[in-house]
Amino acid sequence: SAGRDIQALIRKVEVTHALAKDDVVALLRDTHYVEDFFAAADRVRRKYVGDDVHLRGLIEFSNICKQNCLYCGLRRDNHKLKRYRLKPETIVEFAEKAQSYGYRTVVLQSGEDEWFDVETMTYLIKKIKEMDLAVTLSVGEKPREVYQKYREAGADRYLLRIETTDKDLYEKLDPGMSWDNRVRCLIDLKELGFELGTGCLVGIPGQTVESLADDILFFKKLDADMIGVGPFIPNPDTPLAAEKGGTFEQSTKVMAMTRLLLPDSNIPATTAMESLNPQGRVLALQRGANVVMPNVTEGEYRQLYQLYPGKICINDTPAHCRFCITGKILGIGRRISETQGFRVKQA
Ligand code: 5AD
Ligand code: SF4
Ligand code: FES
Repeated sequence: SAGRDIQALIRKVEVTHALAKDDVVALLRDTHYVEDFFAAADRVRRKYVGDDVHLRGLIEFSNICKQNCLYCGLRRDNHKLKRYRLKPETIVEFAEKAQSYGYRTVVLQSGEDEWFDVETMTYLIKKIKEMDLAVTLSVGEKPREVYQKYREAGADRYLLRIETTDKDLYEKLDPGMSWDNRVRCLIDLKELGFELGTGCLVGIPGQTVESLADDILFFKKLDADMIGVGPFIPNPDTPLAAEKGGTFEQSTKVMAMTRLLLPDSNIPATTAMESLNPQGRVLALQRGANVVMPNVTEGEYRQLYQLYPGKICINDTPAHCRFCITGKILGIGRRISETQGFRVKQA
């Protein structure tokens, strides 16, 4: 029966960490054995990356973006958003605070803001590396030469979601951008020795389950070190305001499938998941995730990094978030990692 097939597929992927696309689609479509599926992802997480949760302190240092992605509140045509750009010394100060909270990685994230040129970025990277922190960048598409300079300055990791592997859909939703260039960026980053992070949005208009299966198989083919998956949440100040968003359930299914296929990767319980479900990050940690990225941006800036509505923690301080997330992690019997949390590749 179909039921036996689904259960057999879950057993198969838990052991082999490989599946054909049709089987990935079947598991994403299934509604009868979802709990078994999540339980398998949780066992694989525990077996390969253990009970430690890696915390990454996120600094959202500029909400200025030259791109115009239809789904994103930071898009350049959104004139309703008050823009900000942190001073380099403020960014360094936030990194010092992140370290004082015990975070061992700082993630520098922004829109595609050209004010932060190579000189400024390499200054920041070197300064933060002196604090014995791992540095993750999430600043968009750049020429290979720029990535190389970031790497030489000491940056360890880079996050660049592919968003969707459907090239036509990508180029519709990210007008003016090229899907091939995004893949070029990912390959350059990998070749330059960054730990590579990518990921996708779940529930963007025009996306199919087949396309989500392609996304997951793309992560596997790239052998990504980190994969961030989150629901699309319609933003009222964008052209996709009236669209339906992704669901919490479907985004955790995509995330769990990713854990089953890339068992030793680092997978965050994403902020967007918790924005749809008050227990979202804890549930994600029990469905395959092993990373959380608490916000360490301070003051009014936090409210202004408005990718989508309902973003959590916008009125909380970094100190509160650290306290809050620690409680949640310990509350489900997991531990806070004391390492910088690089991927430990299993044969
Ligand atoms: N809903 C959810 N995630 C979004 N992002 C951008 N806009 C939205 C939205 N409306 C995600 C993109 C991007 C990351 C920084 O934020 O996937 O890569
Ligand atoms: Fe800019 Fe990234 Fe938002 Fe696109 S998703 S508009 S590149 S911040
Ligand atoms: Fe920010 Fe819980 S992590 S309030």
